[in-house]
Parts: sequence; C-alpha cells; structure tokens
Amino acid sequence: MLNKKSITDIDVAGKKVLVRCDFNVPVKDGVITDDNRIVGALPTIRYLVDHNARVILCSHLGRPKGTFNLKYTLAPVAEKLGEYLGKKVELASDVIGEDAHAKAASLKDGDVMLLENVRFHAEEEANDPEFSKALASLAEIYVNDAFGTAHRAHASTAGVADYLPAVCGFLIQKEIDVMGKALDDPDRPFVAILGGAKVADKLSVIENLLSKVDILIIGGGMAYTFLAAQGKKTGTSLLDESKIEYCADMLKKAEEKGVKLLLPVDTVVSPVFPEPIDGPVEVETVCSCCIPDDKMGLDIGEKTRELFANAVKGAKTVVWNGPMGVFENPTLAKGTIAVAQALADSDAVTIVGGGDSAAAVQQLGFASKITHISTGGGASLEFLEGKQLPGITCLNDK
Ligand code: 3PG
Repeated sequence: MLNKKSITDIDVAGKKVLVRCDFNVPVKDGVITDDNRIVGALPTIRYLVDHNARVILCSHLGRPKGTFNLKYTLAPVAEKLGEYLGKKVELASDVIGEDAHAKAASLKDGDVMLLENVRFHAEEEANDPEFSKALASLAEIYVNDAFGTAHRAHASTAGVADYLPAVCGFLIQKEIDVMGKALDDPDRPFVAILGGAKVADKLSVIENLLSKVDILIIGGGMAYTFLAAQGKKTGTSLLDESKIEYCADMLKKAEEKGVKLLLPVDTVVSPVFPEPIDGPVEVETVCSCCIPDDKMGLDIGEKTRELFANAVKGAKTVVWNGPMGVFENPTLAKGTIAVAQALADSDAVTIVGGGDSAAAVQQLGFASKITHISTGGGASLEFLEGKQLPGITCLNDK
C-alpha cells in the first residue's frame, strides 16, 4: 500500500490546487487519438471540483525541448477535458507567466484551468528550483497524479513538492496499489510475460521479477538473445551479442530459484523485415531451436501461443509488458493478440504494464476484461524493476 498522503487527507475547499497530470497523449492533426491518460486523470479532477477546489492542471506533451512550440500545445487536451467534465477548461497561454497568474487568480471554487505545456521551459526537465518555486507560487497545494511521468525528476513532477504540501491523486494511488500488491504479495501462481525488442531495455525487470514470479515468459525480439544463450541458431533475428552472457546467467538463476522460464518453441520467420512495417510479408513457421541462417524471427508461432496461453490459464496473477512480435503488422500480430486474449480470458488479476502492450489490449477491445492497464510506459517498467519513482518519493508521508 502506498504510504503517501492523498487528496482525501487534506482540505482542498476554496484552495488553489496545482495538479500534475500526464496528458502526454498522441495527437494527430490536432486530434487526440488515444485519450486513456485523460480518462485516467478524471477521478482526481472530479473529486477536486466536487470538493470546491480551484484546480490548476499542468502537464507536458511530447518533447518540445524547452522552446515555446505550438506544435506541442495542450489546447486539444483542454478541449477534451472540457467535454468530459461538462464545463469549460481555460487554457493559459503560458506556464508561469502573466496569463497563468491572471487565470489562476480569477478561478472560482470548482473551476478548472490548464497551464500550457510545462516543457516549453527547459527548466522543467532540469528540475530548476526557481522554476519549481514559480510553479508553486500559483497554488497552495500540490497534487501529483502523473503516474506516467513519475519516473522523471522534473520541476512539475518532483521539484515543486519542496514548496507546497504535496499529496498524490487517485490514479497514482491505484497504479501503485495494484502493481505494488502484485509484486509484494501476489496471489499465486504469479506469471510475468515480457516482450519487446531489446533485452537491454528489460535487464533490471527480468532480474527483479525472477525473485518474485513462479513462471517467467519471454517472447518478442528479446527472446532471441535468450535462445542464443541456450546455444540455439537464431538466423538473422534481432540479437544482442553483448547480453548473451547475461541471458545465460538469468537462465541459471531461474533454475536455481525454481522459476519456470518459458521461451518460444516455434517462431514465425521471414527473409526480411516488412517495409513498410504493416506491408505484406512472406512468412513460415520454424522450430525456435534452429532458425535458418537467412531468416529472422518476427513473431511467436502457434505452439508457443498455446504454451504461453496455458501458463496464463493456471495463473492467479499475471503481469504483461511488451509485444510478442511485430504487432503493427497484421501477419505478425498473432502472438501479441494471443497473449492479450489469454489475459482477457483469465480470472486472474491481470495487469498490463503500459506502452505497446497497453495499446494492443485497447485496440483489440479487451480493455474491459483486464484488471489494470497502466497509464505508464517507462514509469511502469521502472516500477517493475523495483526502482523508487521520484514523482512519488517527493510526496508527503502519511
Ligand atoms: C511517457 O509517455 O512515457 C511519459 O509521458 C513520459 O514522457 P517522456 O519519456 O518524454 O519523459
């Protein structure tokens, strides 16, 4: 359980409350294409509105690198929030400037406004104390509900907590409670499924999970380095030579700890990587023990899909992070779909850790059948690694 004060522990009525959200949503031609992060922030915002706070929201969007660039404006977010809340959400034309102060000063109880993109200032990512202080001067209370950005020690996610009473919102609370319980006190059997392209991105996650799970499933691009560590032929598949020894070490550790480590037994291969990524591709399925020299593995095969689904069937807790293949291509998405389907069919506590796997579950329409889909990509990965998240450690203890 998260041992930090939350918005229910303080009196917010009539107070100006600065709320850091993660509204870093995909925007195409001014239209938000996935608003899950906005939906995730609504319970906190609604609570504050219902309790007569004067709500000042802030967030980053994209990586404008410290310059004021309207390509990264939060205007589409202000509009979407207005639709969900059924009230106008004023967007300040700056972050800590005149307009932000004027709009904050004219807020009435229950009003909501949004500051422009905090990353229009380089001081945000530098966690500059003066910038943190300037942000804090807009409000009387700081609420962090930006789970997706909680792994960044930036001014609006951490620095500002030095200058105001600092508590968490409902989204951070939910993310930490659900994922924390899975890691610290899971109903067993506990199965973790890891995928994605590179082993290098998941080194600490693999190591941390090996001391917690009963079964560790590895698919996606990272599986080939594990197969190579077992002395198998991986053809032209993605391979991280420098991590073969690490993978061999993890295979040994799994054995020592009595963790069942499942790798692909059959692989969907092609002579080339599809170009464009969702274009036609010529495939065949081969045994994962001997991928031909001129072929690359791009998805898990049918037997592996069954093997992984069966492991999920027997589980009481499942955590999944990372696709099983090149899921952007319909021919190579079957492995990722099979894992998503297995989680959707399961009665276990199922947790999808952000990023591509979260997008896959949403797109396939399985979201309502999953216990928890994290709004964090990098943040949920760092949480699974067992790391402290600066956006959470900075908050006031209970
Ligand atoms: C994310 O999308 O993972 C968060 O919003 C953090 O964004 P960043 O990687 O640009 O810091």
